[in-house]
Amino acid sequence: MKPYAFVSAIALAALLSSCGGGSAGKEIKIGGIGPVTGEAATYGVSTKQGMELAFEEWNAKGGVLGKQVKLVFADDKGDPAEGATVYTKLIQQDKVVAIVGTVMSKVTLAGAPIAQAAKIPMITPTSTNEKVTQTGDFIYRACYIDSFEGNVGAKFAFDDLKAKSAGIIFDVGNDYSKGLAENFKNTFEGFGGKIAANEGHPSGATDFKAQLTKIVQAKPDVLYVPDYYNDVALIAKQARELGYKGPMVGGDGWDSPELVKIGGAAVENGFFTNHYSAADSRPVVQDFVKKFTAKNGAAPDALATLAYDAVYIMLDAIKRAGKTDGAAIRDALAATDLGVVSGQVKFDANRNPVKSAVIIEIKGGAQVYKTTVNP
Ligand code: PHE
Repeated sequence: MKPYAFVSAIALAALLSSCGGGSAGKEIKIGGIGPVTGEAATYGVSTKQGMELAFEEWNAKGGVLGKQVKLVFADDKGDPAEGATVYTKLIQQDKVVAIVGTVMSKVTLAGAPIAQAAKIPMITPTSTNEKVTQTGDFIYRACYIDSFEGNVGAKFAFDDLKAKSAGIIFDVGNDYSKGLAENFKNTFEGFGGKIAANEGHPSGATDFKAQLTKIVQAKPDVLYVPDYYNDVALIAKQARELGYKGPMVGGDGWDSPELVKIGGAAVENGFFTNHYSAADSRPVVQDFVKKFTAKNGAAPDALATLAYDAVYIMLDAIKRAGKTDGAAIRDALAATDLGVVSGQVKFDANRNPVKSAVIIEIKGGAQVYKTTVNP
């Protein structure tokens, strides 16, 4: 080797290792975020388990772009400020090339602008609030949006439960809860249904009696509770104590084993819209349920399934991009056409996939799959 060729080989190696951030070296680093502690901790636990299984499978098949993929996971504690901190840490300190996360819309809305500004492609597995992907062209999601979910809930209440009037109780400090309440109201009224009472409660409340008293007095045929499982369980108990005997309908936030543990008999005659059901008989679903259960000792909920799917969507995009450059991954994400456990994913112009919803009934303390609703 001629001396100058030797020098330039060293210079090239130095250049290669100084750029590319999380893709330099032997592995490609991807950030993962979920609320493993805080007000809805089962969401984060499931999300992390779903992501870990997906990473294991990709690495067993040789990783991506000839390298192993490394999940750098962070807990956002269900808190928007903490969410902003961990998005920044993953990007600046860990130098991840992409982020899968986070779960709760109010936290994702705090993190997405940080990923967008840094041009780090991001996919939230489960944040359904419309505004999330409106943040910018680097922000994608693996789930349907609140307008669809609220419509499905309202249609189910009106058509299947034959409700002519509805009461709504929602969290004024939770973008997801507010968004679903609004969409349910619009659709229900559009059908000719009446909103008998519509009450907001402050975030962090544990006593909902003032709002529920007004709602119960208005005698609605159905009570819509678009909230996270801890609040839902307490609201259900207090509504029953105040004499409400009718059905309750909610959204994906009900999906936690804690719902029936805390709510007990009060959450019976409860129905919620969700992304997926482990009772879905399609082979792709049953294969996944089997693998996940063998590893984690319990069947995957929607959080676990969508987190697993979101990792597949992101890694598939990196593979097709052929490099870990943010803009290249973003463009590859836009061209996604991938079959994952929860369905076939293609993104519309707003970076949202078009997907179906399922309706689940709480019966005898278990989740019973009722039906699938297509967009
Ligand atoms: N959709 C909820 C949100 O946007 C999060 C969630 C998804 C919770 C799925 C439970 C199950 O905040």
